[in-house]
Amino acid sequence: MKIPPVKGTRDFYPEDMAVRNFLEQGWRQVSLRNGFEEYDGPIFEHLEMFTAKSGEEIVEQLFSLTDRGGRRLAIRPEITPTLARMVNQRINALPRPIKWFSIPRLCRAEKPQKGRLREFFQWNIDIIGESDVLADAEAIFTAVDYLQEVGLGPADVSIRISSRKMLAAVLVALGIDADQLEGLYTVLDKRAKVDDQAFEKMLAEKLPDTKKRQKVIDLMQVKDIGQISDVAELSSEASEAVAELKRLFVLLEAMGIADFCTFDIGIVRGLAYYTGIVFEIHDAGSRLRAIGGGGRYDNLLKLFGGPEVPATGFGIGDCVLAILLEEKGLLGRNVPAQTIDYYLACADQKYQREVLSVAARIRRVGFSAEFTYKTGSLGKQLKQASSKNARQAIIIGQEIEAGELAVKDMATGEQSNVAMETFFAELDRSRK
Ligand code: HAM
Repeated sequence: MKIPPVKGTRDFYPEDMAVRNFLEQGWRQVSLRNGFEEYDGPIFEHLEMFTAKSGEEIVEQLFSLTDRGGRRLAIRPEITPTLARMVNQRINALPRPIKWFSIPRLCRAEKPQKGRLREFFQWNIDIIGESDVLADAEAIFTAVDYLQEVGLGPADVSIRISSRKMLAAVLVALGIDADQLEGLYTVLDKRAKVDDQAFEKMLAEKLPDTKKRQKVIDLMQVKDIGQISDVAELSSEASEAVAELKRLFVLLEAMGIADFCTFDIGIVRGLAYYTGIVFEIHDAGSRLRAIGGGGRYDNLLKLFGGPEVPATGFGIGDCVLAILLEEKGLLGRNVPAQTIDYYLACADQKYQREVLSVAARIRRVGFSAEFTYKTGSLGKQLKQASSKNARQAIIIGQEIEAGELAVKDMATGEQSNVAMETFFAELDRSRK
């Protein structure tokens, strides 16, 4: 019986695992140097965690199940609700701001396509307990810090930024009812993903009034923060949101990443819980799906039964990122091939016991060592040593009877005999 892998999932063979580890190690390193602590949660949660406030799109993509006790559960499609739940549980004990990161495995029943799968990994950075836009700036900085770390510059990627608070205030000023906003966001979020006709059709379903619809279309053409006041008279809320956006750009400038960041009124975000600054990370030509996205969600903790605590953050998935890095030639160069410190070659089957004992000693000191299972010709064994990227080969032959090892440097080909005790004393000194 041959069973294929499930649609939209991946098998990680060692070479794929090397890429995944490279991405995850970079995420972890950059998170730590920006002052974030790691957390994780369960792979499944109560279904209503995700139906409550994640939005239509996520609900359609849920993998849900009923456990034996009849509880409705779902595999996590994102970790933000779990984070909100976990922080709520300890809200009084946690010093603020809470700066946490996570690299969860997530599942969404999306239509598998380039950069979108049904199971993926997502780097999450979140700052909880700070309402100042400085926290949004730091989250964005952390994303850019990572992108630069792996070799992507402003010509390769851009952070497109807008504000749900500004959009809400301006839409209300244009005569749109507050209770229509959420439905409208879902349509506006799709603006860049569909053609004009499809967009206008979707918009007409939400906004039958032609005049209002035209105003929204005009608003979505705005290219500069300064032009918003040309389209609508700014209420005090709208002015406040515009001022906040402007301040964000001043902070990003001070952090030295302004050339990565642009204002884009088309960034609305698909998830329902965003309340303020929102942003997405795209490849410069926008040929691919979004690399990442996030924003401020000041009501989510309260919604999950906690106090009102402001929060902001983002998620970057592994799929589009890997495609882009591969395209730019930044994967091959960066993903290190696995190496081993010592490969033990056995010149004669009768020395197998010594091979095993030397290999065991090397491993106990903390270095990596491998040996052959089948003693073939020395040439074959050395070939294997080189294919395993061994730094040194140790040939165990008759020298061992005099207490010596023949040590060959695989890079230079130089070989010399070393007394076993000297060899181990040296290893001990350079113990890892
Ligand atoms: P999101 O926009 O749904 O946000 O996802 C963020 C990123 O996760 C996407 O830009 C993409 O890189 C990756 N991603 C999403 N779905 C898939 C998929 N089916 N296959 C591969 N990659 C995917 C969130 O998830 C928010 N919870 C992020 C956040 C954290 N906001 C605040 N804190």
